[in-house]
Amino acid sequence: MAKAAENADVVYLDNSSTTRPDPRVVAAVTEVLEEDFGNPSSLHRLGAKAERLMENARGSVARLINADASEIYFTSGGTEANNWAIWGTVAPGSKRHIVSTKVEHPSVIALLDHLHERGFRVTLVGVDSEGRVDPDEVMDAVTEDTALVSVMFVQNEIGTIQDCREIGRRLMDLGKKKPRFHVDAVQGFARLPIDVRDWGVDLLTMSAHKIHGIKGAGALYIRKGVNIQPLVFGGGQESGMRSGTENMPGIVGFGEACKIWAGDSEEVMTRLTTLRKRLVTGIKSVFPEAVLHGPVEEGVAPHIVHFSFPGFKGESILHALEARNVFVSTGSACSSHKAKPSPVVLALGRSEDEALSSIRFSMSRYTTEEDIDRAIQAVDESLKELAAWRKKR
Ligand SMILES: Cc1ncc(COP(=O)(O)O)c(C=O)c1O
Repeated sequence: MAKAAENADVVYLDNSSTTRPDPRVVAAVTEVLEEDFGNPSSLHRLGAKAERLMENARGSVARLINADASEIYFTSGGTEANNWAIWGTVAPGSKRHIVSTKVEHPSVIALLDHLHERGFRVTLVGVDSEGRVDPDEVMDAVTEDTALVSVMFVQNEIGTIQDCREIGRRLMDLGKKKPRFHVDAVQGFARLPIDVRDWGVDLLTMSAHKIHGIKGAGALYIRKGVNIQPLVFGGGQESGMRSGTENMPGIVGFGEACKIWAGDSEEVMTRLTTLRKRLVTGIKSVFPEAVLHGPVEEGVAPHIVHFSFPGFKGESILHALEARNVFVSTGSACSSHKAKPSPVVLALGRSEDEALSSIRFSMSRYTTEEDIDRAIQAVDESLKELAAWRKKR
C-alpha cells in the first residue's frame, strides 16, 4: 500500500525503458507463481497444465505478427533474442558480411562490434536527419557474401519507423541469393501492425516488459525452414533451440499482454498520436528553441518524443523533472557517471552538445492528457529554474 501511495502522483514517461505491468498481467503471473507452478517438461498433471499455459502464450505472441506458434521461441528478453538472431546466423562456414544500421540498439551494435573484431565485415548504413534508413542504401550494401541484414522496426530513442516491409520485399527479390533478414521489433511489437510473411522476415525480436508484461521474458520468431544455431545448450527445451527451464511467470505474463494489445492496439495508438501532438506543441510553446528529433508526424511511433534543449544538460533536466514527479530518460548513455552523447542523435547529424541536452519522453497505454499537461508544465518550470540557477553561478 505504501508503495502504491508513493507512486500515485507520478507522471511516468519512461515507457521505452520499461512499462508498468498491466494488472491483468500481474494477476496471470501471480496465478502461475502461486498455483500453476509446474515445470512444463514434467509428465504429471501440474506439468501438463504449465505446458498448456505456455503454448497458449506462444499462440498469443504468434498472432500479433502473423506467425505460426511453432515459429516462436521464448527467450529472456530482447537482448538475448537479438544476440541469438545474429550469433545463430554466423555459424562456422557462414558468409562473412553483415549489413545493419547506425541507429540499432546496443544489443545489436555491441555484438556487431565484437564480430567485426573477429574478422567479420560489418556495414552500418546511415540515416537521414529524421533517422530514416533508405532501403536503396541497404540494398546497395548487400553483396554475395552478406549473411544477414538486420534493421530495427521502431528506433527506441527517437521513434522513427523503418520501412522493414520494403527492405524485406526487396531482399526477397534476390531469390536464392537473399541474405537472412532480421528485425529488432522490440519498440513496435504489439503496438503497430507487423506481418512477418508479408515483410519477408526470417527472424524477429520481441520483448515483454515494453508492452506491460514483466521483465526477463521475450521471444525470437524464427521462420519455419530457417536454420539457426542455438545460443543456449542443455536440456532441449524450446524444441532443442533454447535450453533451460522456461520462465513461466514471464511467458504467461507475455501472452496475457499480447492478448490485451490484440484487442485494442489501434485505439490506444490513435489516442497516443493525439497525446504526442499535444506534447510536441506544448514543449515548443514553453521552449521554442527545443529541437525535436525524428519525424514530426508521419513515420514515427506515437509513443516516443525526443527533444534537445540547447544550453541545458539532459541529466540536469531529468533530475529537475524528477523533483516534480515526472520521470523521463536522457538520450545519452551514462557510463562511469560521465554522460556520453547518444550515437543515435549524432547519426542524425546533430552536434555533441545537442546530443547531451536531449530528453526522451515515452508514453504507454496508461498515459493521460493530464500527464502530458503536467509534463509540459514541469518542463517549463524546470528550464526556468535551471536557467535562473545558471545565472546565479
Ligand atoms: C529496440 C530495442 N531492442 C532491444 C532491446 C532490449 O530488450 P530487453 O530489455 O528485453 O533485453 C530494447 C530495450 O530497450 C530496445 O529498445
